[in-house]
Amino acid sequence: MTLQERLDQLHRLRAESEAGGGPDRVRQQHTKGKLTARERLDLLLDPGSFVELDRFVTHRSTDFDLADKKVLGDGVVTGYGRIDGRLVYVFSQDFTVFGGSLAEAHAGKICKIMDLAVRNGAPIVGLNDSGGARIQEGVVSLGAYADIFLRNTCTSGVVPQISAVLGPCAGGAVYSPAITDFVFMVRGISYMFVTGPNVVKTVTHEDVTTEELGGADVHASVSGVAHFAHDSEMECLAEIRRLLSFVPSNNIDSPPLRPSDDPPDRRDEELLTVVPDNPNKPYDMHEVIRRVVDDEDLLEVHRDYAPNIIVGFARLAGQPIGVIANQPAVLAGVLDIKSSQKGARFIRFCDAFNIPLVTFEDVPGFLPGVDQEHGGIIKNGAKLLYAYAEATVPKMTVITRKAYGGAYDVMNSKHIRGDYNIAWPTAEIAVMGPKGAAEILFKRDIAAAQDPQQRLDEHVDEYREKFANPYLAAARGFLDDVIDPRETRPRLISALQAIRTKRDTNPPKKHGNIPL
Ligand code: HXC
Repeated sequence: MTLQERLDQLHRLRAESEAGGGPDRVRQQHTKGKLTARERLDLLLDPGSFVELDRFVTHRSTDFDLADKKVLGDGVVTGYGRIDGRLVYVFSQDFTVFGGSLAEAHAGKICKIMDLAVRNGAPIVGLNDSGGARIQEGVVSLGAYADIFLRNTCTSGVVPQISAVLGPCAGGAVYSPAITDFVFMVRGISYMFVTGPNVVKTVTHEDVTTEELGGADVHASVSGVAHFAHDSEMECLAEIRRLLSFVPSNNIDSPPLRPSDDPPDRRDEELLTVVPDNPNKPYDMHEVIRRVVDDEDLLEVHRDYAPNIIVGFARLAGQPIGVIANQPAVLAGVLDIKSSQKGARFIRFCDAFNIPLVTFEDVPGFLPGVDQEHGGIIKNGAKLLYAYAEATVPKMTVITRKAYGGAYDVMNSKHIRGDYNIAWPTAEIAVMGPKGAAEILFKRDIAAAQDPQQRLDEHVDEYREKFANPYLAAARGFLDDVIDPRETRPRLISALQAIRTKRDTNPPKKHGNIPL
């Protein structure tokens, strides 16, 4: 062969590998409203930055006539590229080749880029679109999945792992995205379930559609499996880029600074009137967060799941932070099973990746009820407590109003290593709310009164006057200061600058035993 012939062969093979399953299958993919594996990578990565690895890999199976059906790349496009100039490793399953199904060679490519990502300290973004384990390869496919699960687990907390589910993801295959840090889905094209509608029908006689069982909205709002649900792949891939702008490339790096024109000393007059005069009236904590952080920019995680707690990424004077906030506008901001899980998982991500935590607190306590008790609010609330307590990143808390009972301790109190704890003058910090406290403390006196209601009201007022304020906590040093709400942003920014070099560790151990 001449050199020219060899070059022609190379170009032919490269073009073949880029054609995936061929024009007909690409057309089918588009008809389903889905982009191809390579179109997705083009949208995800900085233009021209993708470098493909393993384009010539093929499977080695011979069963079911597979020896005659080899497709270059074996149904997954892998490599590295840049997002905002920063290195990321990527895989993108190609549904046009064997339905994106995963087998030995396909998984080997994914494992290779996972190993490279860990070795080089860069995030992994996986774009999933697959019929699951390649049926023809049998147990070899199952083993190949397990190779990935093991890497997902060992990589957890070392480099960020992000999954987009952009097609089917069923059976055991769901457990790879489930172990990663963030799961993105797209309405209408993504679904995830352990067993599909047909099996559900056979086993439990329930009629359910694919979308109802495991679509984007269900997982983003009911199961909490997905952190983000989007209307289009374009939006989804843009949001993955946005998410990565807040997080460091690995557990040793610091989160990337992004300078902002929002003045660090900006006071906000409106913060004076956000909290209503009536302590039982709700308000939207988003309002507080937006007025404090840079450019009102909050990337909310799990927005539609357990909305009684808000978690997400923002910046203070360019420094990324993780925000955790009770939301008085939903269930009065009470902590329940789902919100505790949601908060705990987010805190652990931030702690693993050196992202300081800022807590905005207005919490009446834990949600009472048989459902909650039987569902394990004890062990689930403990997750949130554990996550806050073990976190060694800089931790700040602003108490805007209520901080009652165990929830006061849990929400990053001074006692569990809060570094900078402040309150607004509207804060109420006590063992329980005034009414409950008065009913217990003055039970006999109230019962004996001529007008028990009036007597109760008197005791409630007395209790509120005495305990429902921030000064008893401040007198103990449990609060570092009580501040004018208008100064929240400058105070947090100044404190963050003072604690961002914090060094703290937990005792050496193999790992803790979070109450799962
Ligand atoms: C091999 C597969 C495949 C698979 C799809 N294909 N899934 N090939 N192994 N798992 C092939 C099809 O044969 C077809 O090839 C092409 O991909 C496109 O599939 P279609 O069925 O035409 O597409 P569509 O109608 O969109 O349906 C998609 C689908 C369906 C819902 C995903 O293909 C399906 O149900 N596949 C099987 C899913 C499954 O049971 N997987 C195993 C799950 S258990 P041709 O050549 O005809 O175009 C699992 C365990 C993981 O994954 C274990 C981890 C521990």
